[in-house]
Amino acid sequence: MSNTIKRIGVMTSGGDSPGMNAAIRAVARSCAYYKIQCVGFYRGFQGMIDGDFVEMDARSVKNIISRGGTILKSARSKEFLTPEGRQKAADNLKKADVDAMILIGGDGTFRGGKIFSEEHNIPVIGVPGTIDNDIFGTHYTIGYDTALNTVVDAIDKIRDTASSHNRLFFVEVMGRDAGFIALNSGVGAGAEEILIPEENLGLERLLASLERSRNSGKMSSIVVVSEGDKIGKNVFELAEYVTKNLPDYDSKVTVLGHIQRGGSPSCFDRVLASRLCVKAVELLLEGKRDLMVGFVNNQIESCTLESALKEKHDINLDLLRISDILST
Ligand code: F6P
Repeated sequence: MSNTIKRIGVMTSGGDSPGMNAAIRAVARSCAYYKIQCVGFYRGFQGMIDGDFVEMDARSVKNIISRGGTILKSARSKEFLTPEGRQKAADNLKKADVDAMILIGGDGTFRGGKIFSEEHNIPVIGVPGTIDNDIFGTHYTIGYDTALNTVVDAIDKIRDTASSHNRLFFVEVMGRDAGFIALNSGVGAGAEEILIPEENLGLERLLASLERSRNSGKMSSIVVVSEGDKIGKNVFELAEYVTKNLPDYDSKVTVLGHIQRGGSPSCFDRVLASRLCVKAVELLLEGKRDLMVGFVNNQIESCTLESALKEKHDINLDLLRISDILST
């Protein structure tokens, strides 16, 4: 391993996700193992701009593997979008003797990291942490599995009351631009319909399917709607439209919101975060830079930040067919 990297910075940025603490822990512990220093920057890029950081050793990350959120806090920094903001951040890293950064977040984080590295010649490694799972170069992002379990648990509970009252529930889940959470939780919770931005099935088809459900003897139904879905303007308008056209249905809307971002990470997310972050530190020590680590076919791989940003993580649309068959 090369010894030009003596001090690594780590931060969490963008929307938080369960498992970010396990990731921070893995960075700090890997640094301790390889006998290099680690510093944690607060509030993502903003902490780099403000020079707001803390020294981290193996003990500073004790008992955080099970905690949701991020002990380093998270933010979306407007100032970092400007060359002046990035210059301040670079000056602060130099002052603090930080040789390289590990950036835990989503595509906004990687976009910022890539331009920062190019402008200031500071090596960065991205670690995918977002509940949305919408990052190319990894089959799973940190927090996605926990969010899925939270959603399935919530829909199971909604199912109980939907069934008691013979109601139709529209459950909105997160995913501003991607339907991963909706699609997988929908199949996992046995939803009757799943609406995602990647596939516009149309309002007529939704009405026909709900009508078929009713005629087949189903007394209650769950429709999982991704927040990024374009079929209705929003989930409330969608519910209104359906009720107008199918007046026999007693419809309700539940927006799950930010509970999906919290909670203790699943074992899967803890192990994923641990594996990705050990690799992130090792890549820097090998002299690699401007890469994103990812989980591909149960192996930890890496791809360039450029491809992570340019290419698209395709959703498995066959799950819609599976859902159709199983909601008969
Ligand atoms: O973390 C990703 C995400 O959960 C999106 O699905 C959602 O649209 C967004 O973050 C909302 O985040 P915030 O409320 O922090 O802006």
